[in-house]
Parts: sequence; C-alpha cells; structure tokens
Amino acid sequence: MICGLAQTLLARRQKPPTRAELGCLATHARRACRVIHNALNRRRARPAGDVNHALVRAVQAAGFRKQDVRASLAPGLPLAAVFPDEMESIFSNVLLNARRAMKASPCPQVLLESSKKGKMITVTMSDTGSGIPRERLAKIFEPFYTFAADASGTGLGLFITQRMLARRGGSVNAAARAGGGAVFSIELPVARSAGSKARRRTK
Ligand SMILES: Nc1ncnc2c1ncn2[C@@H]1O[C@H](COP(=O)(O)OP(=O)(O)O)[C@@H](O)[C@H]1O
Ligand SMILES: [Mg+2]
Repeated sequence: MICGLAQTLLARRQKPPTRAELGCLATHARRACRVIHNALNRRRARPAGDVNHALVRAVQAAGFRKQDVRASLAPGLPLAAVFPDEMESIFSNVLLNARRAMKASPCPQVLLESSKKGKMITVTMSDTGSGIPRERLAKIFEPFYTFAADASGTGLGLFITQRMLARRGGSVNAAARAGGGAVFSIELPVARSAGSKARRRTK
C-alpha cells in the first residue's frame, strides 16, 4: 500500500504531491509500524476491535472526499475478533482499490454497510468503479496479481487482506455490483469476550 502510494506520487512528474497525499502516506507507514510492533508484542493478547470505528478510520486514511462515501453502519455491534490496526489495514486495502477503480467514474460513490448475523459481523463495501471482469474475480486474491493501469499496483493488497482475515477466522469475497462497479463482502467473527458492545459510532 505504501509502495503503491509512493509510486503513484513519483509517476506524476509535473504535479508535486500535496500535503494531504503525503499525510496519507505517513498514516499508512505509521500503521505498518504499529502492525509489526503489535504482532511482536501481543502474542498472548486476545484480538478485539470496533468494526465501525475501524471503517471510519480507513475511509479517512484512504483519502476519500466526504461526498463520495455513504455509510449504513449498524449501531451497537459487538467487538470483532480482530485487532483494530489489522481491521484498518484490511478495510484500507479494499477502499484504496475502490478509489483507484473510480478514478474515471463520473459519479464516484462508495457504500459501506455493517451488520451482524449470528456469530459473524459482515461488512460490505460497494463502489461505482470500473468493476472486475468475471474471469478475474477468482484471481484477484492471488499474490502479485495486479491489473492496475498505472504503476501503483503490487498485487499484494488483497492477498494480504485474505490472509489476515483467514488467520482470525474471517473471510473476504468479491462480486460484481448490479449497475456497475464491485462489491467486497468481509466476514469477521465476533470476539469471544465481546460482552461489552462497541461504542456507538456511525457516520
Ligand atoms: N474495487 C475494485 N474495482 C475494480 N478492480 C479491483 C477492485 N479491487 C481490486 N481490483 C482488482 O484486483 C487487483 C488486485 O488488487 P490488489 O491485490 O489490491 O493489488 P493492487 O492494488 O496492488 O493491484 C487490482 O489490480 C484490480 O485490478
Ligand atoms: Mg490494492
């Protein structure tokens, strides 16, 4: 993700990066440090994080304009069995792809939804971007598989996303969105000790 952002900025020879873009780069670099630091220190800690809060943070980190995002987040969700920084990375990976896919879209819109079904929390992220041809859908989670038109792709974002989720008992799926664009559905298990509900945070 950091490589992708840096390459995008480097590729733009005429226009220097803005403060917001450099801020975005720094945010992702800081989170990468946190993920590594936490992975080394938290072997025995039980993962738990607020899904809606992580979604809001990921939207900010991905640099979306407010008017391009709609959210329908279920209030009072239990915590998910995933660390907050892991969740932010997972959601950011999907959102950065959506943002790139909507670059040429006349009406870019991302819709975020969260809900709970049984012991799983579901997050769906749909976009009005270029969409993913059916023959590519099965391949986008493979390592180094990238279709990015510019030099910003490493083909690792969705591979890492899937691995992080599988490690916590979750999953990710991609599909075509009716009317164009893509939909990513993410399932996260409810944390076992989730007696306490996440703070009410909807956007
Ligand atoms: N929302 C989306 N809309 C269209 N294509 C997408 C979307 N998300 C992912 N893709 C496709 O899946 C490929 C793999 O994504 P990813 O693993 O994140 O790698 P990268 O972003 O480095 O190319 C992308 O190159 C892109 O072609
Ligand atoms: Mg990506």
